[in-house]
Amino acid sequence: MPEANELKRVVLASNNAGKLREFASLLNAAGIELIAQGELGVPEAEEPHATFVENALAKARHASKLTGLPALADDSGLCVHALRGAPGVYSARFAQLACGEKSDTANNARLVAELAGNADRRAYYFCVLVLVRHADDPEPLIAEGRWYGEVIDEPRGAHGFGYDPHFFLPPLSATAAELEPARKNAVSHRAIALGALLGRLKELA
Ligand code: IMP
Repeated sequence: MPEANELKRVVLASNNAGKLREFASLLNAAGIELIAQGELGVPEAEEPHATFVENALAKARHASKLTGLPALADDSGLCVHALRGAPGVYSARFAQLACGEKSDTANNARLVAELAGNADRRAYYFCVLVLVRHADDPEPLIAEGRWYGEVIDEPRGAHGFGYDPHFFLPPLSATAAELEPARKNAVSHRAIALGALLGRLKELA
């Protein structure tokens, strides 16, 4: 398990600027400086595994190995109850696997088509975060977040990305794409996972 004082500078195993901002603001408050892997010349790692946690661990190990720093990685996706958890770990490539097209529009079209006539609309976004002290860390710190909602056929909202226009949140009476970015970032699966990770880090402090 990482010790808190070993985690002053951490490389983020992602080149997504939005994720860097989102994660850095909360981790900075915990005294951790987060550096994007791209700034250190680390290329994107493969995500070949069938589980979120294996993919996140592979990304974290890859970034840590190439930088010599502790590394944080995330992996996420949409899990739909009536589709037995699909698209899940294949969320980014859901349409590509069926018809070769890799786009949010094609992914959403496949999602709506697969749920046609199905009354069970339950779904959640899942995020796992993995923090390793070094590439071979035998005790990575792992935290999960689930954000529950329902899939709707008609898209709503212009914010966000991916499946957000079809991901409806009954308690908020809005889709994820109708939430202002700051609001989404405060309540999303990534926010829930990061809150859990910060809780674990506090326990180590
Ligand atoms: P990644 O973990 O950032 O690579 O995300 C994998 C895929 O899951 C994305 O390409 C999206 O299809 C989906 N996904 C993950 N998080 C979100 C979200 O917050 N909104 C919409 N789609 C998401």
